[in-house]
Amino acid sequence: MYKILITGGAGFIGSHTCLVLLEAGHSLVVLDNYANSSPEALRRVMQLAGPGAEGRLQVIEGDIRRSADLERAFAAGASTGAGLDAVIHFAGLKAVGESVAEPLRYWDVNVSGSQHLLAAMAAHGCRTLVFSSSATLYGYPETVPIPESAPIQPINPYGYTKAAVEQMLRDVAASEPGWRIASLRYFNPVGAHPSGRIGEDPNGIPNNLFPFISQVAVGRREQVQVFGGDWPTTDGSGVRDYIHVMDLAEGHLAALKALLSGGDQLLQLNLGSGQGHSVLEVIEAFARACGHAIPYVITQRRSGDAAITVADPTEAKQQLGWQTRRNLDDMCKDGWHWQHANPNGYTSVRTSY
Ligand code: NAD
Ligand code: WQD
Repeated sequence: MYKILITGGAGFIGSHTCLVLLEAGHSLVVLDNYANSSPEALRRVMQLAGPGAEGRLQVIEGDIRRSADLERAFAAGASTGAGLDAVIHFAGLKAVGESVAEPLRYWDVNVSGSQHLLAAMAAHGCRTLVFSSSATLYGYPETVPIPESAPIQPINPYGYTKAAVEQMLRDVAASEPGWRIASLRYFNPVGAHPSGRIGEDPNGIPNNLFPFISQVAVGRREQVQVFGGDWPTTDGSGVRDYIHVMDLAEGHLAALKALLSGGDQLLQLNLGSGQGHSVLEVIEAFARACGHAIPYVITQRRSGDAAITVADPTEAKQQLGWQTRRNLDDMCKDGWHWQHANPNGYTSVRTSY
């Protein structure tokens, strides 16, 4: 069993991954500044993981840009014998529009934060890393499904920060032996743990389709705006590769196993289902899950959107022995379960850990 540092472990994808790793028997140190999350998420992760996980989750409130906070996390990892075996690096900012308005903050947190983390890892002799990259790297894709060999051509500051960190990781891996690194390029993560106890809890008006639909379904918002009905797709709405957050969490476990059981590696892998679904299909599927219609209106296209982005997930299957197992109905059923049981997310219970 391994000891793993999870940066950003209280967030949407991080909390689900923590649960999967605890259930697999690993010990975790989470470092999170709660910039976009609640300590309640990790409290619930511990409840879900059950008594067998007691003592295997240490939580540190801190910032990846602060060396002192990173030192506390590495010290926590070393407190019960040998140090950390690996890091999963989720911490970062992820809102495309916000990155256009505040590019320096995005470069600071995403790029400088990753640089600080890598320096701390090198100093502590921990050279195994799974990094949260994004399909946003591909910009407007030239071929669909998109293979990892597709050109990296981001179209917004958020995408540029992910491309910069991937480049930093290639440079670090080439600089000395011993690094085992996986950059996982997520497509569109959605849904929630089937218990409905943990899920996605965006601040303010959701930027992304799935949480927006969920909030319309639960009555927090009036209707979904469908950004464009004239795309070159079967029903005219945009097509994406939605991936259940539990499949994604399991993808991280598979990546860790692949890294920790092999020698020096630098993996760059798409994590997606390979299936495309249109906005209107997602709205219909969610309506089936919640048992009532979801009001929507078709509006203008959103600037910066592509018509279709779908992963070619072949490489991840070959390298990790991993593929998605859950379909769009599972994503909607579990997403609805979470939203229905927690209409205001974690907000009503924001307490310290
Ligand atoms: P999230 O915002 O829910 O989680 C990110 C976590 O990082 C939060 O808990 C936040 O508090 C923490 N954090 C932010 N800045 C920090 C800092 N300076 N120090 C310590 N902690 C900090 O987002 P998520 O959806 O779980 O995404 C996780 C990662 O995956 C991000 O790097 C994101 O860019 C990437 N990603 C997300 C998506 C998506 O659609 N959700 C898609 C592709 C890639
Ligand atoms: C999906 C589809 C919209 C909202 C973003 C980031 C990407 C990655 C995942 C982090 C599109 C349509 C949306 C709405 C709509 N994140 N839509 N009405 O844009 O594919 O990807 O999240 O790395 O970097 O760009 O996801 O959920 O915003 O949009 O019609 O209110 O839904 O046009 O076709 P996207 P999304």
